[in-house]
Amino acid sequence: MSLRLGDIAPNFTIDSTAGEINFHDWAGDSWVFFFSHPADFTPVCTTEMGRTAKLAQEFAARNVKPLGLSTDTVEEHVKWIKDINDTQGSDVQFPILADANHKVAELYDMIHPGESETATVRSVFIIDPNKKIRLTLTYPMAVGRNFDEILRVIDALQTADKNRCALPADWQKGDDVIIPPSISNEEAKGLFPNGWNEIRPYLRTTKL
Ligand code: BEZ
Repeated sequence: MSLRLGDIAPNFTIDSTAGEINFHDWAGDSWVFFFSHPADFTPVCTTEMGRTAKLAQEFAARNVKPLGLSTDTVEEHVKWIKDINDTQGSDVQFPILADANHKVAELYDMIHPGESETATVRSVFIIDPNKKIRLTLTYPMAVGRNFDEILRVIDALQTADKNRCALPADWQKGDDVIIPPSISNEEAKGLFPNGWNEIRPYLRTTKL
């Protein structure tokens, strides 16, 4: 059965470019951006790895650890990282899991036979410090992920958690937020002392 939002991200121990990783221990108190790749030395994956490395400070600022997975060995990954850095002008520091036997890919349902019988699709799991899966995205092999959206949704999840709010379509950091219908006006007065704009009783927006 596939993993669902709110599930605890399954733990695993596997070799990586940073040595053996026990996932839950490695994640610690951080959020995790866990993303899979069909194979080493493939063009779309190479751009995604480079982009992730260049966003290192953005991830760190959000207390997020990136973790890649590709279905090749550590030796292959190490050679590939040289290529990634050469071609993308990056400095890959985050670990890449060596999942040559598809142990983790199967645990996380990253192989979709309609796309390929053997290679993973481009899965994304955003996992919070309680190890809960908070967001999943699945891209096909031929389409690289949108990293602006990945940062945006991490901002959105962290903002929602911190402020008990919801976020409207296309929300960006600094935009107005929504007061969820589960919060009564009485309770909202304490939570959102700046007041709110009541467009409908179920649609209340406010500035944080
Ligand atoms: C790529 O990463 O470039 C790729 C991998 C598998 C199929 C198509 C593209």
